[in-house]
Amino acid sequence: MNIKNICCIGAGYVGGPTMAVIAQKCPEINVTVVDINEKRIAAWNDENVENIPIYEPGLSDIVKEARGRNLFFSTDIDAAIDRAEMIFISVNTPTKTYGIGKGMAADLKYIELCARQIARVSTTDKIVVEKSTLPVRTAETLKNILTNTGNGVNYQILSNPEFLAEGTAVEDLLDPDRVLIGGDIDTEAGKDAVQSLVDVYAHWVEKDHILTTNVWSSELSKLTANAFLAQRVSSINAMSELCEKTGADVNEVAKAVGMDSRIGSKFLKASVGFGGSCFQKDILNLVYIAKSFGLNEVANYWEQVILMNDHQKRRFAANMVRTLFNTVSGKKIGFLGWAFKKDTNDTRESAAIYVADYLLNEQAEIVVYDPKVKEEQVYADLDYLNTRSEEENRKRVKVVKDPYEVTKEAHAVAVLTEWDEFKDYDWQKIYDEMLKPAFLFDGRRMLERKSKEKIGFEFYAIGS
Ligand code: NAD
Ligand code: UDX
Repeated sequence: MNIKNICCIGAGYVGGPTMAVIAQKCPEINVTVVDINEKRIAAWNDENVENIPIYEPGLSDIVKEARGRNLFFSTDIDAAIDRAEMIFISVNTPTKTYGIGKGMAADLKYIELCARQIARVSTTDKIVVEKSTLPVRTAETLKNILTNTGNGVNYQILSNPEFLAEGTAVEDLLDPDRVLIGGDIDTEAGKDAVQSLVDVYAHWVEKDHILTTNVWSSELSKLTANAFLAQRVSSINAMSELCEKTGADVNEVAKAVGMDSRIGSKFLKASVGFGGSCFQKDILNLVYIAKSFGLNEVANYWEQVILMNDHQKRRFAANMVRTLFNTVSGKKIGFLGWAFKKDTNDTRESAAIYVADYLLNEQAEIVVYDPKVKEEQVYADLDYLNTRSEEENRKRVKVVKDPYEVTKEAHAVAVLTEWDEFKDYDWQKIYDEMLKPAFLFDGRRMLERKSKEKIGFEFYAIGS
């Protein structure tokens, strides 16, 4: 099928950047990104391109180039569906918070709503592309809904999981390790649909980086990739605890291990724990699927990656309390960073939230600075945990715009996100203005120990 119009349902961290790059690279295709969230769409359309709702290095330039030319953001979902030959579903698939599978399974209600809307509106044949991360065999459900509730038009379902990481989304999209497309490759119509999507990506991705598989392999590969990546982080974090007990240094261990070409050096950075909207959700989903097939050993194996991560966040906070003479009650603790990693304003599942919650339970007073996260987001993250009242969170946590306000008269400062700017702060000034002893906890292994100790800090870093 010759694709002239693409619709993407979901203008989030995946839909927005992915479609911006497709529009930039395929000027002859009209790309419309739609969402039910009016505020989000208005922000994507903001005259000042710096106000788009997602911060990603390089993204605003691409949006500036393509927006209004062949990239559109709209809340008119029906119109965009009807016009498109190809529809990407890029809505959120969070962990279920109710009913069967609560706390584990992926909540597919948004996916199903999309399918029903596509079926209701479509009057011409469509290729429906799963861009969201989904449990293996979801395409079957989509097909079922589309063919049983539709207007008799034909649908092809493709799986095209997204492997971009936040903070490097544009880079990852422009130069992906691979693009994965799963389709019904046993039929001519299925093969045609796969080819249509291959042709879109072939505008800028080398052919041998575009991988085609059956739908189920594609769906499962996405969960597998995230599980493997998260497992590496949990593995090195497990070693970080052992390093702290034995005098080994986790960075040195990671380097030595990573130079083995069979292991590789990436994703071996010890930290206060992985966060982000994907790793935990996708592993829990994998665990749930394995359990639902009665594969308990498989489920338990992968669940351990999450348990290790929870332990890492908890032990970082517990170590702070222990070091601060076993009490942080009424003490000012400064947080540098709130996002789940640098170069993003996303805070979903950020380790900082859980460390803060632990310290608040110990009656600490927390002051937060993050270069990209807004005050209301910090409060929303804490409120969402439901550990204490909203008033209490606002009373005990302050969010400031100047990092030196975080550190001034603080009993301790903790680095929770690895923003580059933290390295260049005036650490002598920070030391001078902190209460003594001045405790500094580096949850990201990003600050240089010797110079901080020379200034006079009591310095603690994960893994040494
Ligand atoms: P997001 O929450 O940022 O965006 C999803 C958007 O979908 C929201 O704006 C929401 O309003 C919209 N939406 C939900 N239901 C809708 C409906 N029925 N009609 C129209 N709009 C609707 O989520 P995200 O981070 O972009 O993730 C989307 C999917 O991509 C998830 O399955 C996720 O697992 C996957 N994924 C995410 C990342 C990442 O780094 N964030 C990377 C790879 C894959
Ligand atoms: C991840 C996957 O990398 C990406 O392919 C997928 O599409 C979505 O999920 P993302 O969550 O955006 O991407 O960021 P990622 O770079 O993977 O980091 C996830 C978390 O792990 C962050 O909190 C990060 O700080 C942490 N991390 C990562 C470590 O602690 N150590 C590492 O070595 C790498």
